[in-house]
Amino acid sequence: MKYVSLSFRGLKIFENLSVDFVSGKVNVIVGENGSGKTTLFNLISGLVKPQNGKILLNSEDITSLSFEKRAKMGIVRSFQEAKIFRFMNTCDNGLFAFRYLPFERFFKSLFRGVKKEREYVKAFLKEFNLEEKCFSKAGELSLGNQRLLNLLTVLNTKGRVFLLDEPLAGINEVFYESIIKRIKEIASENLVIVIEHSWGTIEALEGKVYKLEGGKIFGV
Ligand SMILES: Nc1ncnc2c1ncn2[C@@H]1O[C@H](COP(=O)(O)OP(=O)(O)OP(=O)(O)O)[C@@H](O)[C@H]1O
Ligand SMILES: [Mg+2]
Repeated sequence: MKYVSLSFRGLKIFENLSVDFVSGKVNVIVGENGSGKTTLFNLISGLVKPQNGKILLNSEDITSLSFEKRAKMGIVRSFQEAKIFRFMNTCDNGLFAFRYLPFERFFKSLFRGVKKEREYVKAFLKEFNLEEKCFSKAGELSLGNQRLLNLLTVLNTKGRVFLLDEPLAGINEVFYESIIKRIKEIASENLVIVIEHSWGTIEALEGKVYKLEGGKIFGV
């Protein structure tokens, strides 16, 4: 992004913020509560528009594109709270990893159970012991498992930009290592930006760390 400025009702959040995130390594964002980390994701994913400046994806100006258009371009994100469909079962939730397929194909996978897609979901759920919950309503999972389901669905989306807002918060520590490994794998070929508080996790991600402070961003 280049020279991005954003204020909310006169409160300056960013002023002339310029930063290039690159793939190959995880980009890690740190900063105090309220420093604008989630807002940075809102700018990149299109939920919030800057008052000045540009958001670029591989030098293409995407500043005026909607959240949906950017998602279709492969910008996917997780949120601080788990976004799942509580009344759908766990496996059907996992199928949202395909939501950016052409619409028709996605609906087929959801309602008619296209075999290939269902098997893909089962495989990624199995690794994290969620397969046995395939037919349970996602809203009945423990909160930790709801976040895990949400994260796995995002990580298994065929995106090219992954924005992960505190991905490990609330998730059973026994899975940390494999999730961190997966995030690094994705980062080797895609752009991955992770907001993280825990220094242990930041170290394990072996990424490039940026700090948000006073509306500016600094390499650490
Ligand atoms: N849509 C909005 N309208 C008005 N103010 C907002 C909006 N979104 C964020 N803010 C304000 O912008 C500032 C940065 O918020 P943000 O959620 O980006 O912080 P954060 O770094 O993610 O914090 P945390 O560590 O608590 O998640 C806060 O002062 C917040 O109140
Ligand atoms: Mg936040």
